[in-house]
Amino acid sequence: MAISIEKFQEQGGRLKTDDLDFEQFRSQPLQPHVLRCLSYMHDIEYQTVLYTRELLVTPAWKDPQFTAFLTLWNYEEYWHGQALGKVLAMHDWPAHDVRLSAMRTFNKRYLFWSPMMFWTLGHVVRKFPAVHMTWGTINEWTANAAYNRLGQIADHPVLTELLGRIMRQEGRHAAYYASYARDLLEGDRRAQKVTRWFLEHEWAIVGSGDVPKIETSFAAAYLFGSGDGAELIERIEQRIDQLPGLAGLQLVSTAIRDATAHVNEVEGSVPAVPVPTSVPVSVSVPVSVPKSAAARSTGEPANHEVADATTADATTAD
Ligand SMILES: [Fe+2]
Ligand SMILES: [Fe+2]
Repeated sequence: MAISIEKFQEQGGRLKTDDLDFEQFRSQPLQPHVLRCLSYMHDIEYQTVLYTRELLVTPAWKDPQFTAFLTLWNYEEYWHGQALGKVLAMHDWPAHDVRLSAMRTFNKRYLFWSPMMFWTLGHVVRKFPAVHMTWGTINEWTANAAYNRLGQIADHPVLTELLGRIMRQEGRHAAYYASYARDLLEGDRRAQKVTRWFLEHEWAIVGSGDVPKIETSFAAAYLFGSGDGAELIERIEQRIDQLPGLAGLQLVSTAIRDATAHVNEVEGSVPAVPVPTSVPVSVSVPVSVPKSAAARSTGEPANHEVADATTADATTAD
C-alpha cells in the first residue's frame, strides 16, 4: 500500500547544512571530475520545480495526497540544489541562478511545450499515473545511487556528510514513489503494458535534454561505468525487475553503456575513478538500530515506518 502523506511528511523538510564546514572545501578542494558530476546533480535537483509544473497539468492534480507529495518533494529537492550550489561556489564554479538561467535557455523550446505535452499525455493515456510514478521511482533510485557513488569517489569528510543527508531524503522519495507505483501496477495488466512501453521507448537518464547530452553521459559513465558503480546499477535493475510487469527491461544498464560510448566518442575516454581509501558511504538504517540514530545525524524527527520503508526501497540503503 502507498505510504500516506502523513507518514511521509513526518520526516524531511529543509536540508540541514548550517553545521557543515563548507570552508573546508577551500583548503581541501574536490577534484574537477567530481565537481563536474556535482554540477550536473545541482542542475537536476533545481529542475524539480519544472518537473512539478509538468505533473500538475495532468489529472493527478485532483488527488490531494499527490499534490501534497509534490509540494514536499519539490521543496526538499530545492534545498538539495542549494546545498550542492554552495559546494560549487566554494570552488568558484558557477552555481545557482547563473546555471539555472543557462539551462532554461538551453532547453527553452522543450520547456515551452512540455506542459502541453504532459496535459495531452495525462488526458489521453489512461494509465499515465502508473508511468510517471514508475519513472519517478527509477529516477529517485538512480539519484540515490549517484550520491552514494560520488561520496565514495570523492572521499571528502564534508561532502560525505552532506551527501549522506541528501541520500536519506532521496530514500524517502524513492520509497514513496515505489509504493505508489506498485499500487498502480499491481494486478493491472493495462497499466503494466503502458508503463513498460513508455519505459522501453522514452526513458532516459534523468536530466537528458535538460543539460547538454555530454554532461548527462559524463556523470552516468564516470559514476556507474565500472566497479562499485556498476554493482549499484545491477541492484537498481533487480528492483525494477520486481515491479509488477516490468521484469527484464535492463533500462539503466543499457543507458550507462550508451553514455560510456558517448563519452568515449566525444572526449576520447572516461576518466579512471580513484580507488577510495575509506569505506563506502552508507545510510543503511538497520531495523535493530534505535530509531533516533538516523534522526540525530540529520536533525530530523524519526519515524519507524518511513525509515523502514526507506531502508527497504532506497537502492543504496541495503
Ligand atoms: Fe534530491
Ligand atoms: Fe529525490
